[in-house]
Amino acid sequence: MRLSIEFAALVLLPVCLCQGYTNESEVPLYGQSPPVYPGPVANGTSNPAWASSYSRAKELVSQMTLEEKANITRGFTGRCVGNSGAIPRLNIPSLCFADAPDGIRGQEFVSAFPAMIHLAATFAPDLMYQYGYALGKEYRGKGINVALGPVAGPLGRVARGGRNWEGLSNDPYLAGVGMGAVTRGMQDTGVIATPKHWLLNEQEFRRRPGQDVQGEAVSSNVDDRTLHELYAFPFMDSIREGAGSIMCSYQRVNNSYGCQNSKLLNGILKTELGFEGFVVSDWLAQHAGVASANAGLDIVMPDGGFWGKNLTEAVKNGSVSTDRIDDMATRILATWYQLGQDRDYPEIGIYSNLQKHIPVEVQGDHASLIREIGAAGTVLVKNVNNTLPLNNPKFLAVYGYDAVVKASPWQNPARFGGGYEVNFGWNILNGTMITGGGSGSSTPSYVVSPFQAINERIAKNRGTIRWDFESRNPYPPYVNAEACLVFINAYASESFDRTSLQDEFSDDLVNNVAANCSNTIVVVHSTGIRTVDEWVEHPNVTAVLFGLLPGQESGNSIADILYGDVAPSGKLPFTVAKKESDYGTLLNSSVSFDAFPQDNFTEGLYIDYRAFDRDEIEPRFEFGFGLTYTTFHYSSLHIHDESVQVASLPDPNILIVQGGHPQLWETALSINATISNTGKVAAYEVAQLYIGIPDAPARQLRGFQRVWLQPGETKPVQFDLTRRDLSIWDVVAQQWRVQNGEYGVWVGASSRDLRLNGTFSVTN
Ligand SMILES: *[C@@H]1O[C@H](CO)[C@@H](O)[C@H](O)[C@H]1NC(C)=O
Ligand SMILES: *[C@@H]1O[C@H](CO)[C@@H](O)[C@H](O)[C@H]1NC(C)=O
Ligand SMILES: *[C@@H]1O[C@H](CO)[C@@H](O)[C@H](O)[C@H]1NC(C)=O
Ligand SMILES: *[C@@H]1O[C@H](CO)[C@@H](O)[C@H](O)[C@H]1NC(C)=O
Ligand SMILES: *[C@@H]1O[C@H](CO)[C@@H](O)[C@H](O)[C@H]1NC(C)=O
Ligand SMILES: *[C@@H]1O[C@H](CO)[C@@H](O)[C@H](O)[C@H]1NC(C)=O
Ligand SMILES: *[C@@H]1O[C@H](CO)[C@@H](O)[C@H](O)[C@H]1NC(C)=O
Ligand SMILES: *[C@@H]1O[C@H](CO)[C@@H](O)[C@H](O)[C@H]1NC(C)=O
Ligand SMILES: *[C@@H]1O[C@H](CO)[C@@H](O)[C@H](O)[C@H]1NC(C)=O
Ligand SMILES: *[C@@H]1O[C@H](CO)[C@@H](O)[C@H](O)[C@H]1NC(C)=O
Ligand SMILES: *[C@@H]1O[C@H](CO)[C@@H](O)[C@H](O)[C@H]1NC(C)=O
Ligand SMILES: *[C@@H]1O[C@H](CO)[C@@H](O)[C@H](O)[C@H]1NC(C)=O
Repeated sequence: MRLSIEFAALVLLPVCLCQGYTNESEVPLYGQSPPVYPGPVANGTSNPAWASSYSRAKELVSQMTLEEKANITRGFTGRCVGNSGAIPRLNIPSLCFADAPDGIRGQEFVSAFPAMIHLAATFAPDLMYQYGYALGKEYRGKGINVALGPVAGPLGRVARGGRNWEGLSNDPYLAGVGMGAVTRGMQDTGVIATPKHWLLNEQEFRRRPGQDVQGEAVSSNVDDRTLHELYAFPFMDSIREGAGSIMCSYQRVNNSYGCQNSKLLNGILKTELGFEGFVVSDWLAQHAGVASANAGLDIVMPDGGFWGKNLTEAVKNGSVSTDRIDDMATRILATWYQLGQDRDYPEIGIYSNLQKHIPVEVQGDHASLIREIGAAGTVLVKNVNNTLPLNNPKFLAVYGYDAVVKASPWQNPARFGGGYEVNFGWNILNGTMITGGGSGSSTPSYVVSPFQAINERIAKNRGTIRWDFESRNPYPPYVNAEACLVFINAYASESFDRTSLQDEFSDDLVNNVAANCSNTIVVVHSTGIRTVDEWVEHPNVTAVLFGLLPGQESGNSIADILYGDVAPSGKLPFTVAKKESDYGTLLNSSVSFDAFPQDNFTEGLYIDYRAFDRDEIEPRFEFGFGLTYTTFHYSSLHIHDESVQVASLPDPNILIVQGGHPQLWETALSINATISNTGKVAAYEVAQLYIGIPDAPARQLRGFQRVWLQPGETKPVQFDLTRRDLSIWDVVAQQWRVQNGEYGVWVGASSRDLRLNGTFSVTN
């Protein structure tokens, strides 16, 4: 213990975050956010590339006046959603910041990618990288410097959270793999990625002061261990991959606003995780000038906020140090150099609809990748007697509002066009859903609806198709159809949380079709969890798919699965409960009408499947579940070292770099298993590794491999576990600690379909 404390105080952190606690039991669960001042001055120590970017940035900043420094740390009105101040005298351009995480918003000739929750359901790191790369190409093509994504906050703590779909998964490991891959992909094109929202932005209700109710924003009060093991965890992967920017969040954490919380920004982000880039505020998330500067905010958006001239004055009167404003400007310019944006960066190609202009096309050949990810993230959860794939169907009936592109009945019934106010997900509530609502929404250049794709296939086969997109109780029941396909959805948006995980209209529709059609196939496009118990056990409901939010090729992606051109391989990135109340206190956002609303995260690490496992609640469809058109056999679990010798804490003499202590990322242990395709169809299987760390939830995802297997084929899969994967966050040592003792190992097809098990022990 003593050694740990010295380590924390002397080596890891210039300011001791442990506040002198010597025993975990002394640390209060919730409190005020501990002050961490002054913030570290970044100097590019992470690696030679950053070091060179920093020396160039420092040289440039040394030529700048105080007014110029205060100019590049603020936003101005311009062509982009965010525009930093330019310094014409030194040829420093204004940087263009733009939404969204699943496609450039409000422009033409751009692609609408699947939302990130859909990407997570692929469990495919290679597709995640290609997604980031393709998205990055589009941002770069439009001359956008800073992309506002990817998203790991919200993580998805609250089942009805309005923005869960913008992020990957409520499992931090799965989210982390996606955050790392997308960040690397995006930044390989030279675009600055902005993982957001740092941190604990887990609900929409009262996320901002004065929103919904007079008073301050909600305060997410989280203990230190939970903060690290759940919420900061996926951001670590992005930072490790070199993320150049991070967006701080709207709400408060331990009663201090996200963009002026020194523990979160100076402490965890810039010291513990060695972040070399810059922190940008969420739009209008700055609530104080001096406090935010000293806490670690580097650039305010979308305007001057509390800075501009005030920041200049604060530096002159000593409230903000010259070191701090230099660090702010240096971080922005070092990142600009680091991504190579000082050389041949394309002109900004952002225009309003009303402006006559030559269009800048950036879609490239991304449609095929979007179609592939759309299919790969589709999750088959029920398939009685091989209902799917369809066998060369000649007669199909298609039902439901979600099958077609349709304008919202309550607004602009016949219009869709670019621009913020007409995001596809925002307004077309009652047509097919390919994205959610709000600033994370995409504005597709075109959409292939499910009906369109199925219609084309029926036409090619000289078959017959019948449809009804309106009725709650469709009539007539097309009794001769081989299958009745019902398309429904579950919408969510930024700025409000969901009020239900189901809706009566859609449930009635499914039940009414099923009452008359013995082969009813249901596709649910959803922004996250959608409960299905109103109809899932109906004997005539023969197949069910979670189509999530597949992007512009929606119809082609689902048709590929329905017709068996692609065998499904998607797995649920969340738990679907039998009834909403099974989510307990995490069903709804915290609703308080107090002036200083508090949301205590008393459940700690126990969200989603971790809670269902602890409470022995049987879910309808568990985390990681998904069927396909074949079967797999798991065998030969092999743990490469029965007894692992790793020091409990990383070596305190090694410098922290971007991404945290470098030893956290070293492989500590490998585990192998063998998977065979025992069926008749070639398919991917996503083999999943769950680990039982002593003094942690029973099982946590710590590895997955998506492996392609021909019928009869057998392949080995290998899971490499890093030190972080085997650690818990030690609140006293303020470091990741590998636990002494026996670890449980499970390999299987979902969090509950655990085919192989074993153990290994760690002795320090
Ligand atoms: C921490 O404090 C608790 C309660 O006072 C005590 O039981 C425990 O032994 C202490 N642990 C250590 C490692 O000192
Ligand atoms: C929040 O308060 C808890 C309890 O004092 C503390 O453990 C944690 O580190 C704090 N986190 C932040 C970000 O202030
Ligand atoms: C750079 O920062 C690291 C970590 O804070 C520090 O150890 C090192 O001395 C700094 N180097 C310079 C040249 O400032
Ligand atoms: C500050 O930025 C604005 C907007 O980019 C620019 O017009 C102005 O010239 C800049 N001011 C200075 C002092 O460079
Ligand atoms: C500076 O502070 C004043 C008074 O607090 C405020 O009205 C103004 O908007 C601030 N921002 C800028 C950019 O001057
Ligand atoms: C310094 O200037 C800032 C910005 O105008 C102001 O908020 C702060 O109160 C001033 N501090 C002192 C000590 O005058
Ligand atoms: C599946 O098919 C078998 C054999 O045709 C039949 O006996 C069984 O009832 C079917 N099951 C369901 C749920 O339809
Ligand atoms: C969708 O449209 C149908 C038919 O126009 C209408 O009855 C239903 O209420 C709408 N549903 C929603 C969620 O707007
Ligand atoms: C299933 O569909 C058939 C029509 O094909 C219908 O006769 C039967 O009643 C339906 N079953 C149920 C339980 O609704
Ligand atoms: C949150 O936790 C604090 C500290 O334990 C407690 O005083 C407060 O009553 C709790 N608030 C709510 C809403 O549970
Ligand atoms: C573990 O799996 C990898 C492939 O992922 C394979 O190359 C290796 O040979 C396997 N090792 C053992 C011991 O099975
Ligand atoms: C491990 O696998 C065996 C054999 O399949 C099974 O009987 C046992 O219950 C499993 N143990 C755990 C802890 O999952």
